[in-house]
Amino acid sequence: MFSSSLILGTLVFATGSLAQQACNGYAQLCSVPYNQVTTVVTHNSYANFASPAANQACSITTQLDDGIRGLKLSAVVPTNSTMSNPVTDIHLCHTSCSLLDAGTATDTLTTVASWLKANPNEVLTIMWNNPNNVAFQDSDFNAIYQAAGLTDYVYTQPTGNNTWPTLQQLISSGKRVVTFADLGTDSSSVSWLLPEFNYVFETPYDNRNESAFSSACVIDRPVNPSSPNSMMYVMNHFLYGTLTLGNLSVELPQKGTANITNAQSLLTQANACRSAFGRYPTFLEVDFYNLGNTLSIAAQLNNVTYSNSTQLKCNSAGSNGNSGQSSASELLVSTLTNLFLVFLGVYLLL
Ligand SMILES: *[C@@H]1O[C@H](CO)[C@@H](O)[C@H](O)[C@H]1NC(C)=O
Ligand SMILES: *[C@@H]1O[C@H](CO)[C@@H](O)[C@H](O)[C@H]1NC(C)=O
Ligand SMILES: *[C@@H]1O[C@H](CO)[C@@H](O)[C@H](O)[C@H]1NC(C)=O
Ligand SMILES: *[C@@H]1O[C@H](CO)[C@@H](O)[C@H](O)[C@H]1NC(C)=O
Ligand SMILES: *[C@@H]1O[C@H](CO)[C@@H](O)[C@H](O)[C@H]1NC(C)=O
Ligand SMILES: *[C@@H]1O[C@H](CO)[C@@H](O)[C@H](O)[C@H]1NC(C)=O
Ligand SMILES: *[C@@H]1O[C@H](CO)[C@@H](O)[C@H](O)[C@H]1NC(C)=O
Repeated sequence: MFSSSLILGTLVFATGSLAQQACNGYAQLCSVPYNQVTTVVTHNSYANFASPAANQACSITTQLDDGIRGLKLSAVVPTNSTMSNPVTDIHLCHTSCSLLDAGTATDTLTTVASWLKANPNEVLTIMWNNPNNVAFQDSDFNAIYQAAGLTDYVYTQPTGNNTWPTLQQLISSGKRVVTFADLGTDSSSVSWLLPEFNYVFETPYDNRNESAFSSACVIDRPVNPSSPNSMMYVMNHFLYGTLTLGNLSVELPQKGTANITNAQSLLTQANACRSAFGRYPTFLEVDFYNLGNTLSIAAQLNNVTYSNSTQLKCNSAGSNGNSGQSSASELLVSTLTNLFLVFLGVYLLL
């Protein structure tokens, strides 16, 4: 009697807590292995200023609140820095810090750590890009994560193991930040700093028009991976436009058409990549996630129902002082003002 009611009580308790529990917003995803969930990654997540070089319209906190669970960050050392202390000298910049400098990586990760603390059922992926191929050490990233209070959350997947834990397992263990770095780390001393191309491949990222996506379900990086069938993959789905000023050419994200790029076009490429690779993309990497139906498409690929009855924070008035769609005149003024800065930035680069 005693033991059976104890068992019953335990069962009720377990069922009750399972019913309430959601993993990355959906109870159905709790039992799905990390590598089988489709996650939206914001391309250059930090580049969210009112600038024609911006890739996103809202702050990283707003992105996370809206359901973004993957951040692509560029680690850059400003040219006037000596890189004596990674905590202050590694910045989030758009290739050159004279073009767009979002401050120290430490500051952004500190914000991310406090969001994770307040949101205990969320698994986050951070992908580091090293656009200038700086010879960073693993210890540099360890120092930043430590300063930001993120090291308690980092997950280590053993090298060569392509069987990933479920979202629930990651959440229960408290190790719910998965970190990849594309190149330039020593990949030896810090176990959680996963060399991206041992686990993940990427489709081409330099696409200039919608038709380019139709031939973009191919492996771009790394070159000839040895076991592509057991890797996860990033489907890059954003467009660059080229602004030509005399013999200068500047690559700019395409905010004006992101509502088209992030709608049917995104779903079409995901389906094409599924045909090519035998599974949906693990990561959908986009610009301006708030335009189009990015998150509802990701939900559809995950077989869950996206509730889009509430507006994205990014699109609600005054969310970030940086609304989703700018009027043509706002865009023109901002483009003309910033063109000068871009021009200056490029000039400084030359
Ligand atoms: C480097 O340059 C930036 C402006 O681009 C300036 O804010 C910063 O103080 C400079 N840092 C050093 C160490 O001179
Ligand atoms: C691979 O990782 C999974 C998840 O962490 C673990 O359950 C499994 O035991 C690992 N397999 C090997 C061969 O290490
Ligand atoms: C689209 O872009 C690709 C390169 O990404 C280029 O080869 C092609 O000519 C472009 N097509 C059109 C119609 O502009
Ligand atoms: C631009 O092109 C002209 C003519 O081809 C050349 O003389 C000049 O050096 C170029 N300027 C730059 C900044 O490349
Ligand atoms: C996309 O946004 C532009 C404004 O940037 C608007 O003119 C156009 O109607 C939108 N298209 C769709 C399909 O929503
Ligand atoms: C909202 O969800 C419905 C049904 O999934 C979908 O058709 C629609 O495109 C979505 N809208 C947005 C803005 O995500
Ligand atoms: C969704 O369903 C498809 C088709 O049955 C399957 O391949 C995929 O693994 C499912 N995704 C998730 C996250 O369960």
